[in-house]
Amino acid sequence: MIQTSTVLDLEQAKAWLSQQLTAERFEHSLGAMDKAAELAEKFNLPSVEKDQAILAGLLHDAAKLMPASELLNYCDQHQIPLDEMDRKTPQTLHPFVGAEIVREALDLQEPEILDAIRFHTTGRAGMSRVEKIVYIADKIEGNTRNPLYVQKVTSSLDFRNPYSLDFTMLYILDSTIQFLIEKHQAIHPRTIEARNDFVLKLRAEKQL
Ligand SMILES: [Fe+2]
Ligand SMILES: [Fe+2]
Repeated sequence: MIQTSTVLDLEQAKAWLSQQLTAERFEHSLGAMDKAAELAEKFNLPSVEKDQAILAGLLHDAAKLMPASELLNYCDQHQIPLDEMDRKTPQTLHPFVGAEIVREALDLQEPEILDAIRFHTTGRAGMSRVEKIVYIADKIEGNTRNPLYVQKVTSSLDFRNPYSLDFTMLYILDSTIQFLIEKHQAIHPRTIEARNDFVLKLRAEKQL
């Protein structure tokens, strides 16, 4: 069983989350938690970061079921700053609302956990290790994600390579951007910024 050393009881968090989500979305959340724990362990993160990744992995989709109009209202009522693109792509708001809901309902204040929740959909430039692990775990958890995609990403992970998390982020961001282009959907500027950040970093380190 996964255990964390933080004050928040993991079982209590699971019980609360199960009330917020459908059974399938709850299964996805448990899968993301397990995958975040596995990645944090294999990439040798210190226990504090590992606990943060586990909790953020579990709770990342807490607001996923909220309709777009409610997400927008919630952001306005809680002074969550939104730019024009956020308003036009409300599906990218559930991470911000989720972080606030988790902070209020579970009194979870650690900024590292809240930021990993906030940026699990778009990514951003300058992501922490915990943010990267939660982003990746969300996309390749074993309970609900496409097994072929999971296998493709998983087989490219190299736990001895210090750049592996960045390469995996770049792969997922590129495939997400390609998917959005094919579907004629808008791409959030934070996703482009995240992608460019990884490209420039890997190029500066002569890894690309
Ligand atoms: Fe999400
Ligand atoms: Fe998710």
